[in-house]
Amino acid sequence: MSYLGPEEILRKKQEYLIPCLYHFYTKPMQLVKGEMQYVYDHEGRQYLDFFAGVSVINCGHCNPAITDQVAEQVRTLQHVCNIYLTEPIVNLAERLAQITPGNLKRSFFCSTGSEANDGAALLAKLHTKRYEFLVLQQGLHGRTAFTMSLTGLSMWRTDPTPVGGITFVPNAYCYRCPFGLSYPGCDLRCADAVERAIQTQTSREVAAMFVEPIQGNGGIITPPPGYFERVREILDKYGILLIVDEVQTGFARTGKMFAIEHWDVVPDIMTVAKALGNGAPISAFITTDEIAQSYTRPGASTLGGNPVSATAGIAVIDYLLKENLAARAAELGEYLREQLAGLKEKHRLIGDIRGLGLMVGAELVKDKNDPAKVPAIEETDLILEQLKDRGILIGKNGLDRNVLAFQPPLVITKDNVDQLISALDEVLTVVEAGQ
Ligand SMILES: Cc1ncc(COP(=O)(O)O)c(C=O)c1O
Repeated sequence: MSYLGPEEILRKKQEYLIPCLYHFYTKPMQLVKGEMQYVYDHEGRQYLDFFAGVSVINCGHCNPAITDQVAEQVRTLQHVCNIYLTEPIVNLAERLAQITPGNLKRSFFCSTGSEANDGAALLAKLHTKRYEFLVLQQGLHGRTAFTMSLTGLSMWRTDPTPVGGITFVPNAYCYRCPFGLSYPGCDLRCADAVERAIQTQTSREVAAMFVEPIQGNGGIITPPPGYFERVREILDKYGILLIVDEVQTGFARTGKMFAIEHWDVVPDIMTVAKALGNGAPISAFITTDEIAQSYTRPGASTLGGNPVSATAGIAVIDYLLKENLAARAAELGEYLREQLAGLKEKHRLIGDIRGLGLMVGAELVKDKNDPAKVPAIEETDLILEQLKDRGILIGKNGLDRNVLAFQPPLVITKDNVDQLISALDEVLTVVEAGQ
């Protein structure tokens, strides 16, 4: 097999792709193959993947239990559009109704997370006949005109003409509390801020609030116990729907099938994408019987729920349940956080460790003992690069891009966690010595 190689790919990328598409690493590699928790470059070098293509590959790269069924479907019937009857789309909807919380039951399928959130907003408007939305600062909900406007991270808000009628509320960011308080003494002031925002910045006729249970791109920001219950109470008081964006947190990633299940709250609408396809493009918004009845005018997405993507979705759900990957994510995630806490004791760059299951973040600051908590931005990049050179891929996110993101395929082993921790220990020592 001959490969272009990274230099030639970079040259073509610079010549033919729109420059908004950036890449990780000053010396990037060409990835050519994936096998469960590992990927390989064009020279055969193995990398332990601790990012899973941003929480997509929950079941492992090219997992034969999924890939074989997808390949068989590609060979049998790939696409006819949903104006015709096919089986996988309805079977997948039925499976989703079985595994989603509460009375969520009816799905609309599309291809990306952005599309699912856009559709969820439309459904909320149709149902409530209201047009305003609430969102959290530091959330990310997509790249379409509307979902970019719902996004609370300036880096991802490129559109110079954002949509109006959207109110941003301070998020539950305990490490840098927007109110300068600490949990539990704060009595969830950030949740109460939702009510203050409704009263001061909206017409009170708000259709819905969008939330990520754990803010992924925002920096693995994990609200404390009781937060979503309080938010839900406030929303109910004003007749506002709760839309939970599980695009990054869904499908066993956080130790439960859906992250919102860590709180005693059932969404009115839930959006899913990424891990549902384990690499196949598929997304959905899912709602109750009652809310679904508000969307009866024609609506369809050409590729939404096509036989190939829907087959992938069914195979993913079967695999997650059969292998009990939620329990595995909970157990290994706890072990990972314990090990990271050990590194935090030892290294001055680690300011905070947070997350649930195998959605874990380590926020880096110049000096963990300095109350200014100055973000360690260049150090984050150095750590990513040096881990890659040692054969480990991790992600980064956060407002200042100073949060290390650990979101591996859920099929990793305890040895893989140990491998990561020992490499990270070495790299932190090198980077701190150079400071
Ligand atoms: C929470 C969340 N919602 C929505 C999206 C947008 O998904 P997509 O890139 O598939 O449109 C993302 C993408 O990272 C996300 O993390």
